[in-house]
Amino acid sequence: MRRTVIAGNWKMNKNFSEAEDFFLNLTESIKSKDFDNVEVVICPSAVFLELATDFSIEYPLGIGGQDVSANVEGAYTGEVSASMLRSIEVDYCLIGHSERRKYHLESDEQINKKLHLLQENDITPILCIGETLEQREQNITKEVIISQLEGGLKNVTLKKEVIIAYEPVWAIGTGRTATPEQAQEIHQEIRKWIEEKYTTEIAEDIIVLYGGSMNPGNQEELLKQPDIDGGLIGGASLVAEKFEQMIDIAIELRG
Ligand code: 13P
Repeated sequence: MRRTVIAGNWKMNKNFSEAEDFFLNLTESIKSKDFDNVEVVICPSAVFLELATDFSIEYPLGIGGQDVSANVEGAYTGEVSASMLRSIEVDYCLIGHSERRKYHLESDEQINKKLHLLQENDITPILCIGETLEQREQNITKEVIISQLEGGLKNVTLKKEVIIAYEPVWAIGTGRTATPEQAQEIHQEIRKWIEEKYTTEIAEDIIVLYGGSMNPGNQEELLKQPDIDGGLIGGASLVAEKFEQMIDIAIELRG
């Protein structure tokens, strides 16, 4: 059975004391919970990754970066490399988030380089894909996500784990969630593509998360879909109580 991943992407939010308070609160709460098949992941700003991994040594918590350089090392001012992330025990890293694609014009080719570097450093990539509203209205959603999968996973064997996060751009931060049926349709399509390109076993094992205005009110219906294995949560992951509620819902359904 695939594990359920509840991942919070803090984006560019929280200062040091807010981040520390959140982790104190969250770890206090998860230590009293009983769960086997749910994994909790937080992706804070790079500045707080070391603080976060200090907590994850003691508690069942995965920590992820929000981005990584497409280069190994050297004169790339402001960038953070995969080996730097590895050296502070980071477990996961988002790549290809739509905000990186939009504001930093990241291409599938760069995203693919990042994916390879993460794998070389034993960090699990969380590859984000998703269509814009315009693309959905043009009826090209499937073509868009398949081309993002093809580009992002070029020359990737999937012998090491990769997580896919389907995040329709029109649902991010808008309060407008994809319906469970809309999300399931695309998740199924992603799994079908993986099966055709790799194997049935890999397709059955790969974790595909949904992201886009997921909150405690709509999470249950989304998680009830057979191909949705958890969430990549933005806004609702910023408030510890709300995020903990979402962990509880996942434990209740899949614990
Ligand atoms: P929201 O949950 O705020 O819509 O953000 C989703 C997201 O982009 C997670 O990566």
